[in-house]
Amino acid sequence: MRVSSQRLHFGIEVDFLTHEQAVSVVASLASDAGSMVTLSFFHWAIGYPKFRHFMRLYIVCAMSLIGNRNSEKACEVMRCMVESFSEVGRLKEAVEMVIEMHNQGLVPNTRTLNWIIKVTSEMGLVEYAELLFEEMCVRGVQPDSISYRVMVVMYCKIGNILEADKWLSVMLERGFVVDNATFTLIISRFSGKGYTTRALWYFRRLVDMGLEPNLINFTCMIEGLCKRGSIKQAFEMLEEMVGKGWKPNVYTHTSLIDGLCKKGWTEKAFRLFLKLVRSENHKPNVLTYTAMISGYCREDKLNRAEMLLSRMKEQGLVPNTNTYTTLIDGHCKAGNFERAYDLMNLMSSEGFSPNLCTYNAIVNGLCKRGRVQEAYKMLEDGFQNGLKPDKFTYNILMSEHCKQENIRQALALFNKMLKIGIQPDIHSYTTLIAVFCRENRMKESEMFFEEAVRIGIIPTNKTYTSMICGYCREGNLTLAMKFFHRLSDHGCAPDSITYGAIISGLCKQSKRDEARSLYDSMIEKGLVPCEVTRITLAYEYCKVDDCLSAMVILERLEKKLWIRTATTMVRKLCSEKKVGMAALFFNKLLDMDLHVNRVILAAFMTACYETNNYALVSDLSARIHKENRFEIKVTK
Ligand SMILES: *[C@@H]1O[C@H](CO)[C@@H](O)[C@H](O)[C@H]1NC(C)=O
Ligand SMILES: *[C@@H]1O[C@H](CO)[C@@H](O)[C@H](O)[C@H]1NC(C)=O
Ligand SMILES: *[C@@H]1O[C@H](CO)[C@@H](O)[C@H](O)[C@H]1NC(C)=O
Ligand SMILES: *[C@@H]1O[C@H](CO)[C@@H](O)[C@H](O)[C@H]1NC(C)=O
Repeated sequence: MRVSSQRLHFGIEVDFLTHEQAVSVVASLASDAGSMVTLSFFHWAIGYPKFRHFMRLYIVCAMSLIGNRNSEKACEVMRCMVESFSEVGRLKEAVEMVIEMHNQGLVPNTRTLNWIIKVTSEMGLVEYAELLFEEMCVRGVQPDSISYRVMVVMYCKIGNILEADKWLSVMLERGFVVDNATFTLIISRFSGKGYTTRALWYFRRLVDMGLEPNLINFTCMIEGLCKRGSIKQAFEMLEEMVGKGWKPNVYTHTSLIDGLCKKGWTEKAFRLFLKLVRSENHKPNVLTYTAMISGYCREDKLNRAEMLLSRMKEQGLVPNTNTYTTLIDGHCKAGNFERAYDLMNLMSSEGFSPNLCTYNAIVNGLCKRGRVQEAYKMLEDGFQNGLKPDKFTYNILMSEHCKQENIRQALALFNKMLKIGIQPDIHSYTTLIAVFCRENRMKESEMFFEEAVRIGIIPTNKTYTSMICGYCREGNLTLAMKFFHRLSDHGCAPDSITYGAIISGLCKQSKRDEARSLYDSMIEKGLVPCEVTRITLAYEYCKVDDCLSAMVILERLEKKLWIRTATTMVRKLCSEKKVGMAALFFNKLLDMDLHVNRVILAAFMTACYETNNYALVSDLSARIHKENRFEIKVTK
């Protein structure tokens, strides 16, 4: 019988073999029967759970093979050990043993190194993989192109492009060539994460190294550039491609149309679209139409989107589930659920069942418009049609519960997601982190943040901004600053909301100068500070009677924003009865703007009268009269 013959080896029945016996069998086979027979027994034994995680078996086997001067096979045994132990969460133990075996004379080879870092990186132990790489090199192992590739691929996969870049540079410096698959991964991940320039640089470099891009590779690069919104470079790449003798096909064009639409340049996209319509061999296909429809939906031009739908049908093209879903999503975002439902019926009648994306679009739209009960009913309907919720469905529901401040329900959904094996993404984590931050429960936010990072999910600037807001609200600026400095670890950049949070936090503790230097660096980055940020910081200086600094801070704003901010400042200063400073701002406003804001003027005069500052009123009204801005009555 097959089963019993498997359980028997050299006449040994596995159930009756003790651990000690197994070890002695290995040792004696090695000395009497040679390496191959020993390995055959070894592989048979570790096929059973009983021996699979019995470390001494591996060690004795490896030592015996070394005794037979067969270190190549001994290394194979070590690789098996790493694999078996990693299965039960004892990877580190196995790796330490490999290193210990070096002290016993078994020099790890390159294959062992590659195996170890491969297993380690697949488990997401990024730092450990890096550490082992270095440790092995110190021990004289020569990394090869595979070793470097594992590291590059690992960092690409977790989205840490900076590290991937570092390893890739070293790899190329050492003269190793990147294979096609890795190349494609690098280009797509680099451009996907916004490192398009770097992706382009590698594209060029690898082409110089002899990789010949074909039409598909060019299109892939163009698509990457378009996705990132680097339209100009995409068109340059197109030119280069044409120069190399490749003719763009409908996929290349569809990428460009999609890119133009995402950028909000729908009219340009439409011109390209028309060019395709008029061309002989590259007529737009369903994907092209869908991209164009999506562009119009994004701009709320639903009439034009609908027109394209009719047009494509006239051309004999069959809109698919995706096309309909795109249009339905557009109508839902615009709040026209009636048309969305019509389209849903239409697509069903044409034989395309609405899929989960369709339901997600509708449910999301309904939730955003506060029609939560209807959303649930819709979802119920989807479940009855056999659909299973996915990550997006859960995220929509979680954020709805968080909006209602029902954290418990949101957490329950999160746990359910994990339980049924759906990996939450950064949006799931950010939703929870943000709600805990809002509720001043920073310990929990921190826990989720660290968990996300640990399992290799990359925080976005929204995640960071939530954390920073939370810490600022709690008054813990040390931690807020720490997170602020961590942003770039994950390739994120602070936006005006991030800066605003931290500047307000600093102002609350009267740390004016620190706040100001952040404000300056924000302006230098070309970010426009929000109204609250501008007022908070400027007012902080007014509080200590440093009106001049307040003015200087606001000076760098463009005129319209300056006027708005200065107007608010006058109102705020008046309500705080700081009429002297209010007058300074008011005069500056008059310097800048011909129109006098009557509401503000009234507020100013009231404040002056209440504080017996009649002189300020008469100075100001004298100026207004003199410059003939408008007729005012000074008396109330
Ligand atoms: C990459 O793929 C091309 C075909 O597209 C092939 O000619 C070339 O040899 C491959 N290069 C490597 C390094 O595998
Ligand atoms: C180019 O595309 C082909 C598919 O046609 C792919 O197999 C190959 O890996 C790509 N080569 C490069 C250099 O990206
Ligand atoms: C900020 O939080 C850390 C960690 O919880 C704590 O050690 C520190 O004292 C806090 N600082 C302030 C200013 O609250
Ligand atoms: C996040 O960072 C990106 C890239 O720097 C930026 O374009 C975006 O506006 C930032 N903010 C948010 C909320 O995504």
